[in-house]
Amino acid sequence: MKFTSAALFLTLFGAIKAQTTGYQFKENYPTGPGPLVPKPEWLELISGANITNSPVLRENQEPDSDAYCNWSFNECLGESLYQCPRGDWGLTFDDGPSDVSPILYDFLKSTNQKATLFLLGENIVKFPELVKRAFDDGHEIAIHTWTHTAMTTLTNAQIVAELKWTELVIKEITGFSPRFFRPPYGDIDNRVRDIGKALGFVSVIWNEDTHDWQLVESSGATDAVVDAQYAEWVAEASNATVGGLALQHDIYRPTVDSAIKNLPALQAVYKVTTVGDCVGQPSYKEGAAAPIPSPVPSSSVTTTSAPTSTVSPSPTNQGLAGNVDNTSTADQMTPSMKVLAISVLSLGLYFL
Ligand SMILES: *[C@@H]1O[C@H](CO)[C@@H](O)[C@H](O)[C@H]1NC(C)=O
Ligand SMILES: *[C@@H]1O[C@H](CO)[C@@H](O)[C@H](O)[C@H]1NC(C)=O
Ligand SMILES: *[C@@H]1O[C@H](CO)[C@@H](O)[C@H](O)[C@H]1NC(C)=O
Ligand SMILES: *[C@@H]1O[C@H](CO)[C@@H](O)[C@H](O)[C@H]1NC(C)=O
Ligand SMILES: [Zn+2]
Repeated sequence: MKFTSAALFLTLFGAIKAQTTGYQFKENYPTGPGPLVPKPEWLELISGANITNSPVLRENQEPDSDAYCNWSFNECLGESLYQCPRGDWGLTFDDGPSDVSPILYDFLKSTNQKATLFLLGENIVKFPELVKRAFDDGHEIAIHTWTHTAMTTLTNAQIVAELKWTELVIKEITGFSPRFFRPPYGDIDNRVRDIGKALGFVSVIWNEDTHDWQLVESSGATDAVVDAQYAEWVAEASNATVGGLALQHDIYRPTVDSAIKNLPALQAVYKVTTVGDCVGQPSYKEGAAAPIPSPVPSSSVTTTSAPTSTVSPSPTNQGLAGNVDNTSTADQMTPSMKVLAISVLSLGLYFL
């Protein structure tokens, strides 16, 4: 169960990592593995909203139908963003900041490349200076919840707390409130989407998976497998009907090394950029601090029929389920794998 051990490893990693920062926070942020409690005024924000009444199922309980557009159940996307326009590549890294993030940030800076960083609250309070640095470097700061718990297993109040505490700590460090959030494991349904929307957030899934998280597994994808996946995306660039929006991580050294090795080839054939830039939406609720557009590809796309520079991002038709690029469906875990993974992760959290 590769996914499960990766998740457990992440949990342990988070738990034993010492607090090394001297940063003084104004707020008292959550400690421990949860469940989180929201500020009362945050609950007010959803009290008038029309929130889908889907059940909070137990971790190992599979729904018998998909009435609520549950991504973990059948990759239902609903209103979630998940792709970029043809010719664009949305570059995202999850689970940071971590002690290997500076290696990634240095590389991105050296190629003037901006990325979207889906950060975990529990890691932000360990590495606040890295969040400030990433923001100052021009990356798009986004939310990956506080505790990395599967969101469809949380109550409405817990979902509010996971999103709003992470938003608040990012606002305290950077002065800006992210609009984008990525649910851990992609686990989201209409109830979670409705709560996110009522709080002013937009959910972001992906249409391509590097499988980089398997690089730290004894029997997962090898470097060669991940490199071959990149090579395929590069080869497909001229014929692809939609752009990529890929899943990557900056929590382990091998995942960062893999990104550094493979990004130059992607940059050569796609306009690699942030999620906000590729979908044409603001990164932050304050609306400012829009990311500086990344450089256009240095070759090839302009010589093919892919009209990179003439595709105008249109926020209104991004992320509609009918346009899904489902070529990577076979790469995803089956629902039963996900159920097992989520339940074992929860057990791991329980014992910590
Ligand atoms: C709430 O949302 C549901 C599902 O989208 C919809 O059917 C219903 O009409 C809405 N109710 C109100 C009061 O807006
Ligand atoms: C979503 O689907 C997953 C996988 O089948 C399941 O574990 C989870 O309980 C579901 N959540 C809801 C709210 O249906
Ligand atoms: C792109 O499409 C053309 C025409 O269908 C085809 O000849 C070519 O092999 C394709 N290239 C790739 C890399 O798939
Ligand atoms: C996948 O996409 C193809 C066209 O690109 C479509 O014909 C097929 O129905 C899709 N499959 C699913 C499961 O959505
Ligand atoms: Zn994650």
